[in-house]
Amino acid sequence: MAQVFTKSANAFARSSLVAGLLLVAGAGAGLWVLARSGYVTRQGLVLEQPVPFSHDHHVGQIGIDCRYCHTAVETSATAGIPPTATCMNCHKQLWTNAALLEPVRASFRDNLPLAWSKVHDLPDFVYFDHSIHVAKGVACVTCHGQVDRMPLMYQFPSLQMEWCLACHRDPVKNLRPREEVTNVAWQPPVDLEKRQHEWAQLYAVKSKTSCSTCHR
Ligand code: HEC
Ligand code: HEC
Ligand code: HEC
Ligand code: HEC
Ligand code: HEC
Repeated sequence: MAQVFTKSANAFARSSLVAGLLLVAGAGAGLWVLARSGYVTRQGLVLEQPVPFSHDHHVGQIGIDCRYCHTAVETSATAGIPPTATCMNCHKQLWTNAALLEPVRASFRDNLPLAWSKVHDLPDFVYFDHSIHVAKGVACVTCHGQVDRMPLMYQFPSLQMEWCLACHRDPVKNLRPREEVTNVAWQPPVDLEKRQHEWAQLYAVKSKTSCSTCHR
C-alpha cells in the first residue's frame, strides 16, 4: 500500500506541534506584556483634540512658561487646563485667519469652553497632588517627559503604582532646585548628587510609601 504520509509530512506534523505549543506560551506572555503595555496604560497614546495644540511650538520654540497656562500647578492638586481667554491673549493678534484656530475663536465668541480630551487620568481611588511635588523640587519633565519636544501631547509615564513607588522609595535622586521645576532646559550641576542631598534637607523631603499616602 502506498504511504499516505510522506517522511516530510511527519516532520511537518512534529514542527507544527512545537509551533502550536510556542503559540500558546506566546499568547500567555503576550497578555502579560499587554497588561503592562501602553495599550492598557495609554502610555504614548495621542488623543484627538479640538485643536492640534503644540507644546513643541509654544514651550520649546516660543518659550512660554508652564505656569502661564497651567496656573494652578503650584497651589493645588490639579495643574488645570487654560481657558480659551489665555489663548486669545496672543491669538487675538496672531494667526487670526488660520483655519486651524477657528475652534479657538468660536469658543471665545460663543463663550463655550474647548472640550480637551484628558491625556492623563488616574483612577479615582488614587490621590495625587501637584503642589507638593513642585514644592519639594520634582520637575514637570521628570514626570511628563520633554513636553517641549511634543508636537502633540501624550502620556509619558506609565502612571502605574510601581512608577509612583519607585520614586517615593528614594526621591532624592529626582530633585532639583524648586525655582527650576518648570525649566525644560535645566542643566544639572557637576556635583549633582551632593547638591540633591542638600535640596532634600532644605525642602525636608521624606520617603513616603505607606498605602494611605496615595489611597485615602
Ligand atoms: C500656551 C499654553 C500652554 C503652555 C505654556 C503649556 N501648556 Fe501644557 N497644555 C496646554 C493645553 C491647551 C493642554 C490641553 C491640550 C493637550 O493635551 O495638548 C495642555 C496639556 C498638558 C498636559 C496633559 C494634560 C492632560 O490632559 O493630562 C501636560 C502634562 C502638560 N500640558 C504639561 C505642560 C508642561 C510641563 C508645560 C511647561 C513645560 C506646559 N504644559 C506648558 C497649554 C499649555
Ligand atoms: C510627580 C509627578 C508629576 C510632576 C512633578 C508633575 N506632574 Fe502633572 N501630572 C502627574 C499625574 C500623575 C497626573 C494625572 C493626575 C490625575 O489624573 O489625577 C498629572 C496631570 C497633569 C495635567 C492634567 C491636568 C491636571 O491638573 O490633572 C497637567 C496640565 C499637568 N499634569 C501639568 C504639569 C506641570 C505644568 C507640571 C510642573 C509644574 C507637572 N504637571 C508636574 C504627575 C506629575
Ligand atoms: C504667548 C503667546 C501665545 C499663547 C498664549 C498661545 N499661542 Fe498659539 N501660537 C503663538 C505663536 C507665536 C504661534 C505661531 C508659531 C509659529 O508658527 O512660529 C502660535 C501658533 C499656534 C497654532 C498653529 C500651529 C502651531 O502650533 O504652530 C495653534 C493651533 C495654536 N497656536 C493654538 C493655541 C492655543 C489652543 C492656545 C491656548 C491654549 C495658544 N495657542 C496660546 C503664540 C501663542
Ligand atoms: C519623581 C518622583 C515622584 C514620583 C514619580 C511621584 N512622586 Fe509623589 N511625591 C514625591 C515627593 C518628593 C513627595 C514629597 C514627600 C515629602 O517630603 O513629604 C511626594 C509626595 C506625594 C504626596 C503627598 C504625601 C503627603 O503626605 O502629603 C502624594 C499624595 C503623592 N506624592 C502621590 C503620588 C502618586 C499617586 C504618584 C504616582 C501617580 C506619585 N506621587 C509619583 C515624589 C514623586
Ligand atoms: C505613591 C503612591 C502609591 C502608594 C504609596 C500606594 N499606591 Fe496603590 N496605587 C497607586 C496607583 C497610582 C494605582 C493605580 C495604577 C495601577 O493600577 O497600577 C494604585 C493601585 C492600587 C491597587 C489597585 C490594583 C492594581 O494593581 O491596579 C491596589 C489594590 C493598591 N494600589 C494597593 C496599595 C497598597 C496595599 C499600598 C500600600 C502597601 C499601596 N497601594 C500604596 C499608587 C500608590
